[in-house]
Order: sequence, then structure tokens, then C-alpha cells
Amino acid sequence: MNTKVLFQDAAAFETPLLAVFAVDVAVGKDADPVPALLTTSDALSEAAVKALGSGEFKAASCETLLLHAPHGLKTERLLVIGLGKLAKLSVHELRKGAGTAVRFAKPRGIRELAIAFPEDHALSDEHLDALPSGLTMRAMVEGAELAELDWDTYKSDRKDKSVNACTFVVKDVEKATKAEIQKGLDEGLAIASAQNFTRGLVNEPGNVLTPTELGKRAAAMCAEAGLKCEVFSTAKLHELGMGAFWAVSQGSEEPPALIVMTYEPVGGVAEGSPVLGLVGKGITFDTGGISIKPADGMEKMKYDMAGAGAMIGAMKAIAALKPKVKVISVVCSAENMPDGKAFKPGDVVTAMSGKTIEIVNTDAEGRLVLADGLHFAKTLGCTHLINAATLTGAVAIALGKLNVGLFSNSDEAAELFMTGLKASGEKYWRLPCTDDYKDQIKSAIADIQNTGITRYGGSITAAMFLKEFVGDTPWIHLDIAACAWLDEAQPWIAKGPSGIGVRSLVEWVKGYSE
Ligand code: BES
Ligand code: ZN
Ligand code: ZN
Repeated sequence: MNTKVLFQDAAAFETPLLAVFAVDVAVGKDADPVPALLTTSDALSEAAVKALGSGEFKAASCETLLLHAPHGLKTERLLVIGLGKLAKLSVHELRKGAGTAVRFAKPRGIRELAIAFPEDHALSDEHLDALPSGLTMRAMVEGAELAELDWDTYKSDRKDKSVNACTFVVKDVEKATKAEIQKGLDEGLAIASAQNFTRGLVNEPGNVLTPTELGKRAAAMCAEAGLKCEVFSTAKLHELGMGAFWAVSQGSEEPPALIVMTYEPVGGVAEGSPVLGLVGKGITFDTGGISIKPADGMEKMKYDMAGAGAMIGAMKAIAALKPKVKVISVVCSAENMPDGKAFKPGDVVTAMSGKTIEIVNTDAEGRLVLADGLHFAKTLGCTHLINAATLTGAVAIALGKLNVGLFSNSDEAAELFMTGLKASGEKYWRLPCTDDYKDQIKSAIADIQNTGITRYGGSITAAMFLKEFVGDTPWIHLDIAACAWLDEAQPWIAKGPSGIGVRSLVEWVKGYSE
């Protein structure tokens, strides 16, 4: 999509569709909605005044109202998009709003659209600082670019419904703000392209995206983005003593892939600066292994590499945004299969760290590959670790499908991550992983076992397992199992892979930039 910004009057812009945002300015729970446009353009306001006064449009979040041949405007259609209550207005609402505009146009065969940049000062209200120009632009570009994707590449009767151009029309503003908006556009394009890359990887079926193929795609991305990338397989796992990672891989015909991507800022960083380690679970298909999963819904286990996908996408964005901090990403990719050679419940394996693990359930494989990935990242010099993984079904029971489960051994690292959510618009909820849960993974015959003694707190016991391998290094674990796949289409995004994690990971990394 050709996404750009133009500094001119939206009313005079010729386009098949112009979107303008509206908020509900009514105060109080039971008050009737009062929609108001986020524009200072009299022409736009006049074109919509009758429709807005009719009472049929409430400016609820992602609600749309279409007006054909609006009087006094150059656009063929005016699309009013609701953003919900003014008091709750956020940058993320604009991300969804811009996405809604694109996904409104797509099925209707409208190939080009324009979006009037929201002018919150139109409402002379105290919430004016809710929408900083640069971040608002970035969020809208992300929303529009994410909305453009549909997952029909494997359909033989695919009809091209792509939107080719999206122009953000900004009323002439001061020079400083112009530069901010332009920067927001560039950042938005970089981040959205990375998140869409992740979504594309996660969408791929297991027969296409094997660990080897994931390695190839990561390497190709790195070559294009200017990142160093090394892809290892079986021999390296043995050489490094990655007994936990290898145990998961050994039952598959497909060899594992250990992918190491490195970003170093031009000019280097000061001695003793943090080195961030981004570790991803890359199970390209999870059958459960010998502890095999039920057939119902198993096809979705192709998305068990979404943590790896998020890390590869984050590296792509980092390469473009160039923060002043060194970042190393380690992706542990394997296929979890039942086979004569597969690992079995009761087996004891030795992780790279030297810890012995009793395998109780071969379906708890993600924590095994991550155990070695996290330890390996430390040996590469990482001073701060973060991992993303579709680790447990239990996280959906704990938090539903709205919040990612966040676990950490460091309040500082976790708080920095949480600070970034205002910009990323993603939702995370911190859950405990304190040492009083440690008894849950005690084994009778080895150092630890790979599942909890009971099913209770399944996401926490999984986090406790990972914690055994990070030691004192500040670490965050993101259990994205419930949020990496959207079961329902939303007005701003297609159903399927969400690309969760990319935006927040990028914010976290930027938080360590010198
Ligand atoms: N890949 C699954 C977790 C998962 C479940 C991801 C649903 C996405 C959607 C993971 O490897 C797994 O199977 N975990 C088990 C752990 C159990 C055996 C302790 C689970 O959650 O049931
Ligand atoms: Zn599993
Ligand atoms: Zn899994």
C-alpha cells in the first residue's frame, strides 16, 4: 500500500473515500451520545452535521457511517468513524480507527482512501494531550497497514481486493509538528512492515514453514535489513549440549534450527551498556509428541512459533529504527512429533546449563527449547532477557484472550515493558512467579520436571521452569498463547495471526537505547 502524508485541506482533496474521526463528547454513564468530529474544517463539519444530528450514529469505537456525495467536499464519499468516549480517547483508538477505514474500503472494492488527521483541539477540551502528533501518525499508519492484510494467499480463486493507497491529510501545521508527523509515518511503516512479516510467518502452514524454512526466512530478512544472522542445526545443538532443545527435535524428520540474529548500533555503545536478548519459541508444529494432543483444533498448532515470529519481526523493526543498544535474538525452532525416536514421558535430559530435567509430558516442549535458548543467550553476553512463547493453554484460562501473561524476576525490567504499552497499544497483565511456586516443579529423580505437580497455575509453573535457566539476569517471559491468534475478525484487523508482541518488544528495546 502506498501510505503517505499530505499537508493540505482535507475538504479539497479528491479521493474516492475520505475518513474522518468522531468521538462521543457526552459526559456521564446514562447520557445520550453526542458525536463530535475531530476536525477544525467547517466544510467537513457541515457535510456531516445532518447525519450526526440524526441520532443513528453514536461514535462508538469502530462504528462507521457512510455519506455519499457529501456537499461541499471533493471526496466521493465521507466515512465517519467512531472512536468511543472522548474521556477514554487514546492513540490506540486511532490505530483501530485507521484500520477500520481500510477494512471498510477493502470489501467494497475502493482502492484508494484518505484519512483526515484527527484534530483534538477542535473540541477545546482538557483531553487535548491524549494525541501527540508523531505517535498518533505512527499508530494510524500501523493500523492502516495491518488492516490491509488478508489471509487468502492459499486460495486459488483469490480476488484482489487490496487497497493501493492511503493518504493521511493533515491541515497545514507548524514546521516542527510536520517533522514529527513525518517521523511518525516512517516509524509506523517500519513497525507495521515488521509486524506484518511476523503475521505472514505465523500464517504459514507447518508443511511449508519447517524449522529449516523459518531459518531461511529469518536469514533472508536479516540480509535485507542489514543484520547478522547465523542458522545452526543438529550438530550445533549437540556441540553446545542443548539436551532439552534436542529432546524436542529428536522425534521429527525435520531438523531443528537455532537462529541467532544480531543488531549492533553503528558507532558502537559505551562499555558496560546492556545487551538485550530476545528469545523465541519456534515450534513450527506442536502435535504434543508422545503425550499427543486431541485431534480437535490441533491444526492451529502451526502457530506455536508465534513467539519466534514476534522476535524475528522485532529484529526487523529494530534494524530499521536503529536504537542505540545491542540486541541479540535467539530463536529455538523444532517440530514436536511422536515417533520411534521421539522423547518420552519419564526420560531425563540434561539442559545446556547442566540442569537435569525429568520429562513428565512431552507436550510441555516450549519450556524445554526456551531453557536452552535462554541459557545460550546468556553465554552470548546478554545482560537482559525477554522471551515470547505460545507456552500454555492455561494462560487463556487465567486471562482470557485479551491480555498477554507477563512474568518477570525484575520489577525494573517489567515496569519498563509496561511503560511502552501506551505507545504499542498492546495489553499485558503481570502474573506471579515467586519462589513459593518452586515446589510445583520438583522432580523425584532429576533437578526439576517439565510440568507442574498439579494442573493449577499452569502458566505460572511454566514460568517457574524458565526462571530456573535465567539465574539473576533480569528477565521477562511473555506467554502469548491466547493472543497470538485472533479467532474472530475485528473491524480493524483480519482474523488469524495477530503479530502480538512486535510493537511492545520494540518499545522495550527503545527503552534501553542510550
Ligand atoms: N503449544 C502449547 C500451548 C498452547 C495451547 C498454545 C493453546 C496455543 C494455544 C504448549 O506446548 C502446550 O501444549 N502446553 C501444555 C502444557 C501442559 C502439558 C503442562 C498445555 O498448555 O496444555
Ligand atoms: Zn505442547
Ligand atoms: Zn507448544
